[in-house]
Amino acid sequence: MRLPLPKSIRWKVGLPVILLGTVLGLVVGFYSYQNTIETAKETTKEKIKTAMTFTKASREYVRSTLRPKIDELLASGCSKEDFILEGQSSSFFTASIFKKVSEELPNFSLRQVAFNPLNPKDEPNELEAGVINFMRNSTHREYSDIVNYRGERYFVYASAVVPDGSCLRCHGQVQNMPKVIQALYKPQRDLNWEVGKVQGAVMVFVPFESTVLKAQLTGLYRGLSIFGIFLLLTLFILISLDRLVFKPIERLERKAEEIAKGNVDEPVDITSDDEIGKLAEAFERMRVSIKKVMDLLK
Ligand code: HEC
Repeated sequence: MRLPLPKSIRWKVGLPVILLGTVLGLVVGFYSYQNTIETAKETTKEKIKTAMTFTKASREYVRSTLRPKIDELLASGCSKEDFILEGQSSSFFTASIFKKVSEELPNFSLRQVAFNPLNPKDEPNELEAGVINFMRNSTHREYSDIVNYRGERYFVYASAVVPDGSCLRCHGQVQNMPKVIQALYKPQRDLNWEVGKVQGAVMVFVPFESTVLKAQLTGLYRGLSIFGIFLLLTLFILISLDRLVFKPIERLERKAEEIAKGNVDEPVDITSDDEIGKLAEAFERMRVSIKKVMDLLK
């Protein structure tokens, strides 16, 4: 089927330019949106990574410095306690840090979650379980994406928790757990985390709704700008064509009608020296010739 093409040159020129403007506007708008989101994702990820590095370093400090020191003190018989949670458990330490950070940055949600958790509050929700399973079933040990969470859009960053042998002291069988841990968390059954397998994740949720909105607005703005430029361009082209081509052609058309009716006395106006001017000159020569013939015939 053929499209009913417009009959006027105005449309034949104007329509493609407007169409091109629309398409370019859409493409630029869409890519600008994508680009803004990607940049925001990268920046957020970098910020989270910096924070995580501090957390990891702190954990490492508890594990490699503080805990052995306290172990040594406990072994030398300076206390009746078998374990000092606050000073020996890097997980407890991280949980405390996360709680503090969450208080400081209420929009940020920091969680360490795992299947078979020691603290029931660390049971992963559906979304978190999905992310853990994704990392478990792939070689990815990190995950980041924009997700819908509690009815809002969030940027989520997850880093896999992969237990080593040392974790089983508290995340293995109940009977091996330090007494304080048994007393505090009252585990109902053995947790039996598997060494070397993704068991959980440290999850960071950052609100992203406003970023997405901003990106949408930027995209819209850029797209509309491009469209606007093309609209102006079309207007400019049409006005120029009107002044330089269409109006003079219409004048010549009227003149031709006049000549056809036999009114050959008025000379043809030649208003320019371009192609249209040359056409007008040709008309004028034709008028003069016709006038000569008509004078002869009189
Ligand atoms: C000395 C005891 C101890 C050891 C060893 C230990 N953790 Fe924990 N872990 C805890 C405690 C206590 C909690 C609960 C913290 C809280 O209240 O949220 C916890 C919680 C966690 C959680 C959150 C899910 C849950 O079970 O509540 C993760 C993840 C975790 N630990 C990872 C590890 C990893 C990985 C290792 C080994 C590298 C490890 N832990 C070794 C004591 C320990």
